Order: sequence, then structure tokens, then C-alpha cells
Amino acid sequence: QPEVRNLKNEMKRQLPARTYSMLDDISRTAEHAGVPVYLIGGIVRDLFLERPNEDIDIVVEGSGIDFANHLQADYGGSVKIHENFGTATWHHPSKLSIDVTSARVEYYDRPASLPDVELSTLNEDLYRRDFTINSMALCLNPDIFGDLVDPFKGQSDLRSKTIKVLHNLSFIEDPTRILRAVRFETRFNFLMDKQTESLALNSMARMKDLSAHRIVEEMKRMFKDEKPPETIRRLFELQFWQQFGADDDIREESFVHASRMDMVYDRHPHFQSNKISWFDYFVIPFYHSGKSHLAKTFALTRQNNKFLQDIRDLTEIDGWEKTEGVGDFHRFLKDFTDDAILFFISKEHFENEDIIVSYVEKRHDIPPILTGEDLIQQGLKPGRQFREILMELDVAVLNGEIKTKEAALEWLDKYR
Ligand code: CTP
Repeated sequence: QPEVRNLKNEMKRQLPARTYSMLDDISRTAEHAGVPVYLIGGIVRDLFLERPNEDIDIVVEGSGIDFANHLQADYGGSVKIHENFGTATWHHPSKLSIDVTSARVEYYDRPASLPDVELSTLNEDLYRRDFTINSMALCLNPDIFGDLVDPFKGQSDLRSKTIKVLHNLSFIEDPTRILRAVRFETRFNFLMDKQTESLALNSMARMKDLSAHRIVEEMKRMFKDEKPPETIRRLFELQFWQQFGADDDIREESFVHASRMDMVYDRHPHFQSNKISWFDYFVIPFYHSGKSHLAKTFALTRQNNKFLQDIRDLTEIDGWEKTEGVGDFHRFLKDFTDDAILFFISKEHFENEDIIVSYVEKRHDIPPILTGEDLIQQGLKPGRQFREILMELDVAVLNGEIKTKEAALEWLDKYR
């Protein structure tokens, strides 16, 4: 295929009309403000890949803040200035928001890796980015609207499906880029080139210097729309899990667990009211190493902590796997979340999968046949036993043994 030099037609064809007309507006402002303005980052890459993306990131060879103010003067909305970064966000009246940065302002301090050769300000900005496929820009000024700027051969790496860093210190400067690389690999079915992969392996130990929060943010993105089992496996190859104490020899086991979790989830519509949380995948390698406590550093919410507790407790309960009636599971499982149960029944082939899932489905609407008030009226003394009785009643109801209040009252006799 010939190199593409101008993407105006592709922009028109692929971008939603409102996004395109926004770029048109920006173009007009660039003209009278007299500064070079570029569309940059993921959206450029995704135009080549024909994947939807509406995130407009703008780089200006000049002051990003001044340009955002120009946009506001021309079209309204409001501007929020991020003084520390020298960037601004323009909130358009239509609720779209657009980030505007100055090519001069630096992401990081001038990287040690930056070559001595003079780069234009735009090229210098591109050089600071993560991968060649993300380091392309499209001119937005009117006469050259849609012209591609691709100094690092991003277009050619897109064709060969390659994730490639721009320089050797890229992962040292920012180890989260290794996780980004894996995310792009799995999302697009790309691979890092040899050099990039070996840099990733060499920098992996730096992952431990990051805050749990930063890793969690990347994990959320990784496990949201990519392929979790593949992601887990690839992170083993790159020694990610091992940095945090997971064993090396459980990668296949972990892969299988994650795949099974997806399968059970897909098979039973009940689970589909909630997405599987990133954390449930994240815990798998630690769980199989017998060290789920190591995932605690990354459990930043109450829900995450409950999940860890639940899977530990589930593993310790004895004998419940052999339980037979739908209701009987209630005795063991009533306090566990759906998530934890899904995780647990996916860890290996589970004979009772269907019946457990049918329990999980039914437990959310057990008809309240008797209340505590009813028990008091029947002459029982309020106390701890009430909880037990009402739970046993739920068991019997789930098992289909009790359907009416009369039957329940008769059943209650044995507690008197
Ligand atoms: N970027 C970078 N290093 C990072 C994060 C981001 O160089 N650690 C640059 C990349 O050029 C990227 C751009 O900032 O294209 C925007 O980042 P982000 O929105 O996170 O990524 P996208 O590439 O847009 O990915 P996605 O499609 O997942 O939003």
C-alpha cells in the first residue's frame, strides 16, 4: 500500500459529524490566531485502524492556553486552565471537551534520551510519547488540513502490527507504558518488536516503584475492554505478576481460570447485570500462588477487600460443593457476593455449576413468608435464634418445600 499523506477524506468519512465540524471550527481559529495546530494521539492511530474514537487532543506550536482562550472567544463554552501543566481544557457548549497542550510544554523533564539534533517543537512533542503508532499528528490549519506528520514511521508500524518505543529510556521514564504496550497488543492483535519487548522485560522491576493507585488505573483500563485471559498470560511472560510475589509456574492455570470465568459469565445471563470487575481478574495469579493476601495492596475499595475475604473464606468452607438442593447452598453461600461465587466456581471444572448459578439467581428474590414479628406472635423469644430460623425458612422456600404461610407455620413447630 502506498503511504498515506493526507487524511482529510478519512476524517470526513469516519468521524462523527459533530467531531468533524469541531475540527473545522478549530481549523478556522488556528488560521486567524496564526499558530500551527495539530490533532494528535490515539485518534490519529484509530483513523488508520478504522476504529471509532472521538477523543480530540490538540497540540499547538505556541501557547495552548492562549489558543483555548481563542476557541472560547470564537465559539463560547468555557476554558479550564491547568497552570502546572501549561495545558487547558476547552469545554464546548455542546458538552464536548477538548484538551489543548503546547508543544513546548514538556510531559516529562527533557528526557536524557533526547538526541542533540534539533527537532521542531512538534516533533519534540511527538518524540516524548509512548509508541510510534501514537506519535503521529494531523495538521489542522486550513491549507494543510489533514496532512500527516509522522516522523517516527508510525504508519509503517501500524501496517506491520508493531508496538515500538521511540527510544531506550521510554519505559524507565514511565513504567506504566509497559502496561499500555500490553493493552495495545491485545486490543489490536499487535506485538512489541524485539527491542521493545526486551526493554520492557528489563524495566519491569521498576513497576514496584509506582503507587498502587497508578497500577490500579492501568489495570482497570486493561481488564475493561481487552481480552483478560490473554492479558494475564502476557503479563506473566513479561514478569509483571512475579514482581509482586506471584509464582512463575501458574501462568497456564491462571489463564484457564480467567477463560473459564468469562465462559461461565457468558453462559449465565444472571451475571451479566454486572461486568466482571478488573480486580477479580487481577487476583487470579495471587490466588493460584496461594498468596491472595498479596493482592491487598491493590484493594483500594471496600468492595475489593470484601472480595478478597470472600474468596479466602469460600476456599476454606468444607463440604458445600457436595450440597444438592438449590436451597441448601444458601446455608453456605448467603453472605458471599455473586462475584466471589463466580470466581470460585470458575477456578476449575465445577460439577454443580448450573445448580449454584440457579441458586445465585433465585436468592435475590426469596418471597418473605414469615417475618420476625410472625415469630414473636407464635410465642418464640426474639434473639439470635431468629436469624437461624429465618435462614432455614429461606432454605426450605428455595428448595420448594414451603410455599404458603400456613405451611411455614406448621414447619415452625419444630422450633417451639
Ligand atoms: N501518552 C504517552 N505516555 C503515557 C500515556 C499517554 O506518551 N504514559 C500519550 C500517547 O501518545 C497517547 C496520548 O498520550 O496516544 C493519549 O493518551 P491516552 O488517552 O491515555 O491514550 P490513547 O492512545 O488515546 O489510548 P485509548 O485509545 O486507550 O484512549
